[in-house]
Amino acid sequence: LLSQMGPDALLTMILRKHPSQRSAEDLEVIYEELLHVKAVAHLSTSVRKELAAVLVFETHGKAGTVLFSQGDKGTSWYIIWKGSVNVITHGKGLVAKLREGEDFGQLALLNDAPRAATIILREDNCHFLRVDKQDYIRILKDVEANTVRLEEHGHTVLVLEKSTTGSTEQGGAGGSSKYTVMSGTPEKILEHLLEKVKLDTNGNDTIDSCVGDFLLTHKIFMASSQLCPALQHQYPLMFTGSELEKADYSLAARQKVVKLLGQWVLLYGLLLKDDPVALDFLERLKKEVAADSRLSTMPKDQLRERRRTRLSENGNHSLSRQHSQQFDWFCNCEEPVGRLQPIRGQDKVLYEISRPDNIPITLMLPVNTSVQEVLSAVVKPGADYVLVKMNSMGDRAQLKLDSSAVSTGLGLNERLFMCTSGQVERLRPLKEQQGPEQGTADALEQMCSKDVASQLTHYDWELFTAMHEVELIYYVFGRSKFPGATTANLQRFVRRFNEVQYWVVTEVCLCEDLMKRAALLKKFIKIASVLKEQRNLNSFFAVMFGLSNSAVQRLYKTWERIPSKTKRIYCAYERLMDPSRNHRAYRLAVAKLSPPYIPFMPLLLKDMTFIHEGNKNYKDKLVNFEKMRLIAKTLKIVQGCRSQPYVHSSPTRGLADRMLLEAPSIRISTYSDSLPCRSPSNIRLYVQNLSVIDNQCRLTELSRTLEC
Ligand code: CMP
Repeated sequence: LLSQMGPDALLTMILRKHPSQRSAEDLEVIYEELLHVKAVAHLSTSVRKELAAVLVFETHGKAGTVLFSQGDKGTSWYIIWKGSVNVITHGKGLVAKLREGEDFGQLALLNDAPRAATIILREDNCHFLRVDKQDYIRILKDVEANTVRLEEHGHTVLVLEKSTTGSTEQGGAGGSSKYTVMSGTPEKILEHLLEKVKLDTNGNDTIDSCVGDFLLTHKIFMASSQLCPALQHQYPLMFTGSELEKADYSLAARQKVVKLLGQWVLLYGLLLKDDPVALDFLERLKKEVAADSRLSTMPKDQLRERRRTRLSENGNHSLSRQHSQQFDWFCNCEEPVGRLQPIRGQDKVLYEISRPDNIPITLMLPVNTSVQEVLSAVVKPGADYVLVKMNSMGDRAQLKLDSSAVSTGLGLNERLFMCTSGQVERLRPLKEQQGPEQGTADALEQMCSKDVASQLTHYDWELFTAMHEVELIYYVFGRSKFPGATTANLQRFVRRFNEVQYWVVTEVCLCEDLMKRAALLKKFIKIASVLKEQRNLNSFFAVMFGLSNSAVQRLYKTWERIPSKTKRIYCAYERLMDPSRNHRAYRLAVAKLSPPYIPFMPLLLKDMTFIHEGNKNYKDKLVNFEKMRLIAKTLKIVQGCRSQPYVHSSPTRGLADRMLLEAPSIRISTYSDSLPCRSPSNIRLYVQNLSVIDNQCRLTELSRTLEC
């Protein structure tokens, strides 16, 4: 009988056997056959052999049969042996047809997620090869470079790849979700991530780290005006009662959207209030959500969870929970605690503009005012006036009419000037741009290094926390691509870095007395030491950069007077600044730090620029999500740094105990605060109003007059 059977019939007969009953020859026949099946042809011999031993033959007679529905639990993977199926998703309907040799149903297994689509037979009498979940996981778990590609209407919409690195980070809650998004259309990535949002309320916040990455970076590839309708689309408004819609499915879908929105609001906080599209969308959904307690309690639960982790880490149990009866998306947003208010996109800021006649103009204008708007606020339309920025060296740049936010974007000691185009060449820097004539060594001498460092850190912390991490994206990708966005807080923080750096150089170069200068140098090394102890790496580097400025380095006589112990410490710190191997020394040091700490901001910006320039935003018209993940990783460093509150009143112990480096630190003697200039408020005033020379030529000249 066997010899009379055609090859197909023989194969079918073998496949119909229970897997445990297949002989070695049977397996050989199946294996041979699998070589021609598109879905498995790319797999290795051993994997195909293993599959041959577990495949189950499954047939269905009637077109229109639902094999499984979107939202179901996934139990098996299918290869189409004969026939074809329709792939249908909520809201979109038919998105793909799959034919002989193609496969489906792997997504739910790989991600431990519900079925992402409904599968319906397109014709009578379809045959499938089915692999059950455990077998699938066991056999395909270790397959290298496995890629899942989903199509809709003939175009690839999502590419997932097994992550080879950082699987613990990507893993989320289920250990099997090792497939990460490589690329996709914004909508499909969102749809996929929503599917993976877990709703179990056993307390732990199971939002996948991928969702966090998406929310942190969405503005790069999906503006709010695109994100909000897409979320609306994913939010089933009513139970339509059709065969596909199930009440519990649609509730789960709504809960997922609300959970994601809760996360979104937590992440951007009050920034979203500056985004009319986002605000409008949240407002519209608010009524819906408020009416259903299964939805309205979700953001609160998220907050409670966040607070709980914070509290247990701080050992502080006195924080009271906000009680608001009415549902409000923003109930979780904490107002900034520092004195320094973040500059927001809608805020007005001071524009100080100098003129050749030396009569300055001061205006309050929105942060993002364009040069054109600035000019028309001051001069009649059509007048031949231009806006120029000039630094202390006298380098001028005429500003383009369409550039904006020029006031908050000014560099250290840089100023705005307005004049006719004929006068540009004659503009000279203002006297105040040149910096001070006299140093403050005498005042500094009275202040204890520890107090100066503490006040520096306190101020840095305010500047650092006033900045939203998304400003890094705007800064690196170009702010003009993000309407309404501001980078003012980041720029202010970066400017401060330069200010502290030049403060050190200025003070040293303006101190004429050799002995005093040596004491000053020593003091700055002490300040660096405390800054490092306080884990303020930004100002630590700023002071160290200042000390390594050529105008300071060349003062041999001064350096000679530094005690050798202090010098050793300085040299140890210098090694930290070594840029070789991509700042390896620094990176190793920060890796050991626990929050809160202030990172070396210029390096973070450099890293982001590197990622941005080295990777395209789109790959084959799909969002290059790998790049977004890398960007998000840098932003998460910033988030991580400030995930704990900074306790500024006790900057020494506690923080110092967990010192970052092996390098020895200097013991700081405590002075009494008897002199008024030593009072904390005076020192604060001093560090917040540094006046510096940033003109390198002038600094070098000064240095030469000190020691030739
Ligand atoms: P799974 O989520 O387990 O169940 C539905 C399956 O449909 C899914 O795995 C994919 O294998 C398959 N599928 C094919 N195209 C798409 C698509 N565009 N969107 C979602 N699922 C798809």
